[in-house]
Amino acid sequence: MRTCMEIARHCNFQGSSGSSGKGYLQPGELLQNKYQIKRELGEGSNGITYEAEVVSEGPEKGSLVAVKALSLVKSRDWKAVELFERESRVLATLKHPSIPAYLDYFEVDSEEDRVFYLVQCIAPGTTLEAMVESGWRPTEAEAVRIAVELLNIIAYLESLRPPVVHRDIKPQNILIDGEGGGVSLVDFGAVAPTALGGGSTIVGTYGCARASRLARKYPVL
Ligand SMILES: Nc1ncnc2c1ncn2[C@@H]1O[C@H](COP(=O)(O)OP(=O)(O)O)[C@@H](O)[C@H]1O
Ligand SMILES: [Mg+2]
Repeated sequence: MRTCMEIARHCNFQGSSGSSGKGYLQPGELLQNKYQIKRELGEGSNGITYEAEVVSEGPEKGSLVAVKALSLVKSRDWKAVELFERESRVLATLKHPSIPAYLDYFEVDSEEDRVFYLVQCIAPGTTLEAMVESGWRPTEAEAVRIAVELLNIIAYLESLRPPVVHRDIKPQNILIDGEGGGVSLVDFGAVAPTALGGGSTIVGTYGCARASRLARKYPVL
């Protein structure tokens, strides 16, 4: 069986559309005759992210993926749709071992709604938020290690041309694969259009975004 990263290498950002969708999903539901929903991973202000298994025949069969869904009806406004499409486009350009790779993007129409889906590799482990909530406390060395891993990811994003600015690095968007394990950064939903892109959009999480950025002096972390 090919690994998720190998599958990702053959993906293009093209998207596809279907017509069998409902709203949000229940465990067991099948999407595009390919992704079977297993459980919910997290719910944000706009969308829901699920763990799903690839059940269609092919080299990807049996692999687990993360499926992020955004309902047009349930989303707050068009800005949410615009940000979701931007997230998919940007994620498709990224290639880093600590950023779950982009796999697929599609829309499913029903009579009452249109739901947008972004499929990506599963990041192993649990969120830093869940670990801390369950009582885990890092040693100083472990805290430094996680910070260095994150800085390496940020350095990669800033090395791109144009640079990519995540804008929502916080414990819910950082996954750790156990004590001493790999660190992954997810959720490019607040990503800046370019390093210098300003505009009127305020995204990210209050309390986690740097005050200077909220003041929109410069769009940095
Ligand atoms: N690729 C992934 N692998 C594993 N878990 C993920 C992945 N993407 C998201 N998650 C989980 O789902 C949650 C919600 O996804 P996220 O992309 O952060 O959406 P939102 O914009 O709603 O915050 C995350 O906090 C994380 O727990
Ligand atoms: Mg998030």
